[in-house]
Amino acid sequence: MPKIMTLPGDGIGPEVTAAAVAVLREVAPDLSFEEHPLGGVAIEQSGEPFPQATQDALKGADAVLLGTVGGAQNSPWNALPRHLRPESGLLRLRKALGVYANLRPVRVQPGLEHLSPLKAELARGVDILIVRELLGGIYFDPDRKIEGDTAYNTMRYTTPEVERIAKVAFWAAEQRRGRVTSVDKANVLEVSELWRRDVTALRDREYPRLHLNHEYVDSVAMLIVSDPGRYDVIVTENLFGDILSDLAAVIPGSLGLMPSASLGDGAGLYEPIHGSAPDIAGQGVANPAAAIMSAAMLLRHGLDRPHLAAKIDGAVSQALREAPTRDIGGAASTQEFTSAVLRALDRAAVG
Ligand code: NAD
Ligand code: IPM
Ligand code: MN
Repeated sequence: MPKIMTLPGDGIGPEVTAAAVAVLREVAPDLSFEEHPLGGVAIEQSGEPFPQATQDALKGADAVLLGTVGGAQNSPWNALPRHLRPESGLLRLRKALGVYANLRPVRVQPGLEHLSPLKAELARGVDILIVRELLGGIYFDPDRKIEGDTAYNTMRYTTPEVERIAKVAFWAAEQRRGRVTSVDKANVLEVSELWRRDVTALRDREYPRLHLNHEYVDSVAMLIVSDPGRYDVIVTENLFGDILSDLAAVIPGSLGLMPSASLGDGAGLYEPIHGSAPDIAGQGVANPAAAIMSAAMLLRHGLDRPHLAAKIDGAVSQALREAPTRDIGGAASTQEFTSAVLRALDRAAVG
């Protein structure tokens, strides 16, 4: 009986996680669930965003399903020392799991082009996989400081770190359209020069059949929303991937449509890319599609049940037509959207 650890977190996290768990229970009744605190909710309980009990429970989990963590800009949590803030709990969780490869698919499904603010002809058929390095770079480098009127952070990568994330991108491209775009800022940064050199060498050595090109991150920021059809797999470092994936959420139409899977050598972490959305938290109107599709990624990548994952993705597409939430121009509540997903799953089982 696979054990799923759930970390609903803060803001809309518990609302969208409940929806994802309901869908998982429906398609995979053999799963067991164990809930633990992470982020602001954990700070309230114990003063610690990633409490020891949550850390200990990771050992027994086959996969981790996360909601979101963090408070509003004016939340008292943001006044805590950095290592005690909700977001630090999330970063430490990623580190503890060793999930260095963050897969962020950006897909516009046929018939759902109208949800995109882009012209339908630009949105149609978009299918990009952003592979974001998740454990390195400026996020984690210990060479960082704020003191008086000076502060700095360091973006550092080593060849083994670059190679392991590039391998994931090449592996994914082999199952897709065979094209990888590596995104960097090699016209300015030494760290990007190394990144570009190592990605190229790996392709030449081990993946000669795949097409690889390199683009600068500022240019990609423009092209990803003006000509998204040009991309298959995008591989990039941690911070660039964070920013580009929120930007890419414009293409399908909402942050609420962007799931993710974070993979390493052990249990994976599955989470929507959006935050805790304090502006709509507690209203029951959050779009749970990203969380539900993250649960589908859990079944696909974590439990090797791709057929169940495909069922969920199909049911989500139908629900997006039948019961769109507010962020994509509809009026359905989180609950109504979830019910529409469950109904579509039922129909698929009968039909
Ligand atoms: P956000 O993603 O929470 O919200 C940005 C905008 O998108 C808001 O208007 C919000 O209402 C909307 N939105 C996001 N998800 C939605 C959904 N599922 N359905 C409908 N609308 C949705 O970003 P933010 O406001 O910059 O951050 C809020 C907090 O979340 C901060 O504390 C931040 O650090 C944290 N955060 C956490 C994660 C995470 O846990 N992985 C990710 C990003 C931000
Ligand atoms: C994300 C979030 C996190 C990140 C924050 C909350 C630490 O923005 O998952 O994209 O920057 O990685
Ligand atoms: Mn982000």
